[in-house]
Amino acid sequence: MGSPLRFMWAGRVEAVAMAEGSEVRKLDEVLPSRETIEGAGVHLRRAFGYHQVPRLDPYLLLDDFRSENPADFVAGFPWHPHRGIETVTYMLDGFVEHEDSIGNRGVLGSGDVQWMTSGSGIIHQEMPKPREDRMGGLQLWVNLPSSHKMMDPRYQEIRDAKIPQVDVAKGVRAKVIAGEVAGVQGPVRDIVVQPEYLDVSLEPHTTLEHAIPRGHTAFAYVLEGRGRFDADSGETIDSENLVIFEDGDRVRMEAHSAPLRFLLISGKPIREPVAWWGPIVMNSRHELEHAIEEFQTGTFIKHGKSRGIPT
Ligand code: CO
Repeated sequence: MGSPLRFMWAGRVEAVAMAEGSEVRKLDEVLPSRETIEGAGVHLRRAFGYHQVPRLDPYLLLDDFRSENPADFVAGFPWHPHRGIETVTYMLDGFVEHEDSIGNRGVLGSGDVQWMTSGSGIIHQEMPKPREDRMGGLQLWVNLPSSHKMMDPRYQEIRDAKIPQVDVAKGVRAKVIAGEVAGVQGPVRDIVVQPEYLDVSLEPHTTLEHAIPRGHTAFAYVLEGRGRFDADSGETIDSENLVIFEDGDRVRMEAHSAPLRFLLISGKPIREPVAWWGPIVMNSRHELEHAIEEFQTGTFIKHGKSRGIPT
């Protein structure tokens, strides 16, 4: 991925006076996702990325690569390295074939999740396998704190059938990938930023209230339909928009005449400097240069025997 070299310090986060009782988070900002081109020429929509750092800390990027046009995605994401982050792929339609340079290989289908912790480094490719016209999903990048950037790489690959769907109320359903809803815990565990990752569907005229720890960053990304994410503002948010919440104890989402489907994601901010070059995210420019040099000289992979990149 071709983002330019960038180095910046995470902004200071102001201490927020603790209110008595439980406070519903207000809508802070709505950002429309933007068309962009990634990998070997995949047309996708970016909800947030490089230019929003450190706004969504501990999250770095969210790409929406849903499409009904095979020309948008057939080029895929050929061999590239990752270090210092986690990439989370959630498929909604079609298939993506995944392969890495230490011998892991698999196919993600509709509803499956791959939570890939690159840690010290992997080199992989992610290639869409269109069997129908529709294909797509979401990819989220999760930052790792300095203490975990060089950890051993790890995969948590979860099939759709193993991800619990919770009927919270009539017409309110949450697929729990990570975190907890109504006492049901998602299958992705032991992630350092304490993420919650939910795929929520609301039928018309239903509401979901959900607790999120105070101090955690929280956002929603609208997948289908439209709805309200802040009872006070009354603003209706359409699909392909990102909703960033202010701090508080819980969030409240409402579907009116139309159904609403969205991702609800939260996590504990890392509050460290971010040095970002393409698919590698470290804390300092020096660490970035070191990583690039190791990639160029073939010493990038620290864990597992590199089989090299097939050509
Ligand atoms: Co990748």
